[in-house]
Amino acid sequence: MTDLQTFERDLLAEVAASPDEATLEALRVATLGKKGSVSELLKTLGRMPPDERKVQGPLINGLRDAVQAAITSRRDALAEAAMDARLASERVDVSLPVRDAPQTRGRIHPITQVVDELTAIFADMGFRVAEGPDIETDELNFTALNFPVGHPAREMHDTFFLPADGRGDRKVLRTHTSPVQVRTMRSVPPPIRVIIPGRTYRHDSDQTHTPMFHQVEGLVIDREANLANLKWVLEEFCKAFFEVDDVRMRFRPSFFPFTEPSMEVDIRCSRRGDEIRFGEGEDWLEILGCGMVHPNVLRNCGLDPDVVQGFAWGMGIDRIAMLKYGMPDLRAFFDADVRWLDHYGFRPLDMPTLLGGLTG
Ligand code: DAH
Repeated sequence: MTDLQTFERDLLAEVAASPDEATLEALRVATLGKKGSVSELLKTLGRMPPDERKVQGPLINGLRDAVQAAITSRRDALAEAAMDARLASERVDVSLPVRDAPQTRGRIHPITQVVDELTAIFADMGFRVAEGPDIETDELNFTALNFPVGHPAREMHDTFFLPADGRGDRKVLRTHTSPVQVRTMRSVPPPIRVIIPGRTYRHDSDQTHTPMFHQVEGLVIDREANLANLKWVLEEFCKAFFEVDDVRMRFRPSFFPFTEPSMEVDIRCSRRGDEIRFGEGEDWLEILGCGMVHPNVLRNCGLDPDVVQGFAWGMGIDRIAMLKYGMPDLRAFFDADVRWLDHYGFRPLDMPTLLGGLTG
């Protein structure tokens, strides 16, 4: 074997053994680079006598070509291997189910959802939201609302009383949202247009009652606020809330100490098994109490019944939520069962609006 053949064989072996692209590049510079061993060999051709050059020229050029080709093919092979390794290490299983982002994984409780829906509907009619404390004085929960001391209507409420304080006054867990009517009338001058959603408490528990439940109260005080206005407000509310074009409502005479006249309102519906539909059918379902604010209540709040008048209503939020979303057992609302919430809850980013749709 000639020196040239040995040289070529060794070089090709070195190329084939290059473990990575950097080593291969260094080898290329050391052979084919300006001062590389193969380039130096090529330079010797110029100094050769013509006869020798004729023989050596093709041999040396052939060696250069062979080394160049070997380097190129080794470089391709190394690049391909590097890509394969990268693909293997960065492999993603695109068939895996997509996980929800944390902010979309939680659920809005149906009560919160319904409060947001109510607020959107009444805000559109110009109402603002008023709030009051869950622990209320006896005066605001009853007396100012025209429940006389010792009157049986106080018993109707199955009140939770707190222990008496030093002066013998017993606070109560508010039995309805109506005391916030008094708080509002005592603190803002008419005209008043508020809704009052909140927690309420009574000593009662079965499939449709829980000791803690929710009500929303409405109050309008103005010079001429009247029953026709009340009827319109309630009808518009029911249409928007139950998402039907038409509702039939029935106003029945009733009694509440804080309104005169007082009425209970039924809404026309059809019932098939557990399913209730509004805007159709032959049945009636009671959904709220209402009336004209009693002159004594206005007086108790420092207002003159000869100057202003108004109407109010109150309804159970849990009940209208059960009706709208077909949830049969009220107790499940407060069990904190994540499976129930997953099923009946609402997506956090779907805020109810009148334009975008209440229920998303
Ligand atoms: N507070 C009443 C209750 O809890 C509901 C109610 C009835 C509220 C008539 C009102 C009203 O504002 O006018 O049973």
